[in-house]
Amino acid sequence: MRFAVVGAGVIGALHARTIANLDGATLAAVVDIEQPRAEQLAAEHDATALSELHQALSVPDIDAVAICTPSGNHAELAEAALKAGKHVVVEKPLDVSLEAGQRVARAQVESGRTVAVISQHRFDPSSLAVDRAIREGRLGRVTSGSATISWWRSQAYYDSAGWRGTWALDGGGALMNQGIHTIDLLVWFLGTPVEVFAWTGCLAHERIEVEDTAVATIRFESGALGVIQGTTAAYPGLNARVQVHGDRGSAVIDDDQLTYFHAAARGEVGPDVGAGSPDNQAHDLLAPDVSPTEGEARVAGITATSHTAQYEDFLEAARHGTRPLVSVTEALRTLAVVRAIYSSADAGRPVPVADVAP
Ligand SMILES: NC(=O)c1ccc[n+]([C@@H]2O[C@H](COP(=O)([O-])OP(=O)(O)OC[C@H]3O[C@@H](n4cnc5c(N)ncnc54)[C@H](O)[C@@H]3O)[C@@H](O)[C@H]2O)c1
Repeated sequence: MRFAVVGAGVIGALHARTIANLDGATLAAVVDIEQPRAEQLAAEHDATALSELHQALSVPDIDAVAICTPSGNHAELAEAALKAGKHVVVEKPLDVSLEAGQRVARAQVESGRTVAVISQHRFDPSSLAVDRAIREGRLGRVTSGSATISWWRSQAYYDSAGWRGTWALDGGGALMNQGIHTIDLLVWFLGTPVEVFAWTGCLAHERIEVEDTAVATIRFESGALGVIQGTTAAYPGLNARVQVHGDRGSAVIDDDQLTYFHAAARGEVGPDVGAGSPDNQAHDLLAPDVSPTEGEARVAGITATSHTAQYEDFLEAARHGTRPLVSVTEALRTLAVVRAIYSSADAGRPVPVADVAP
């Protein structure tokens, strides 16, 4: 599959490198409205530099487009690519509004092409292991969970590009940009979200329109309850952590590592589930074939391992016409949680997640 990467910024560089190293994929073009950026990244990978997406869309042997631009124009670019018959990988979030996200959903159905929305932490070995344990019933009835993101972003970070910290193009702050990965894991593990109640604040930054701190409670269709805390105002920057608890076991993922796991063995029943079972330890779950590669390339502190795994899932889905793990529908569900949190914080009352859908 021949790709054009659109947006040659921080994450565009990681996509370019990921595609260039992937079996079955070639980086054909790099597009950026800032032509020198496109030229620099294209030169690193022997690709063609272009300054507008439509130039790449008219090239017949470009099969897919990877959208790595500011969040608020993801949908517009994805729709254009789908209308031109290209497959699409789009960085998180799908876009900044549900209305825009729905437009991508419609364009995807009309085009019959494959769309994957980047949520690379779903492909971390620890996340896959916890998901598998939940689906196998090894945590029992899932009763609660939490997503906490205690990070620091300096004022210089927000000042580094005009779109950062704006409603129109960033779509939000600590949750929409940074916390969405961890929220996506919580929602993936706990299922259909029903209602949220939240507060948000901008407490340690200036010249941004959005929150740098948010807390929320969330209720799921299964009855499970959750807590979300996300901030870019926790100096000097700590961890991102997701916890899941059930009546037969619990799991904790801390900074992408499975740091606690206790569960019933497969098929085990009875009152002392998981006690002393050789099958209830974290290391047993992490199959060697999904472990991170030693010395894997990093771009801006992000390893390419999980992006690579998500790209492999995307290629497989496009090849067989199947659904990628993080489809538009999945991304819309997580986007709806973040939008509902903002809506609740504005209104000062609980908000049903269904109420924010267009
Ligand atoms: N998955 C992750 O871990 C991760 C990490 C960082 C960023 N992101 C996401 O990636 C996206 C980009 O973030 P970034 O930090 O790389 O931003 P950035 O500002 O570093 O880069 C964005 C690039 O897009 C270019 N651009 C803007 N509009 C364009 C257009 N219409 N056509 C072509 N190029 C255009 C800009 O000139 C810039 O070079 C955001 O949506 C962000 O949420 C994801």
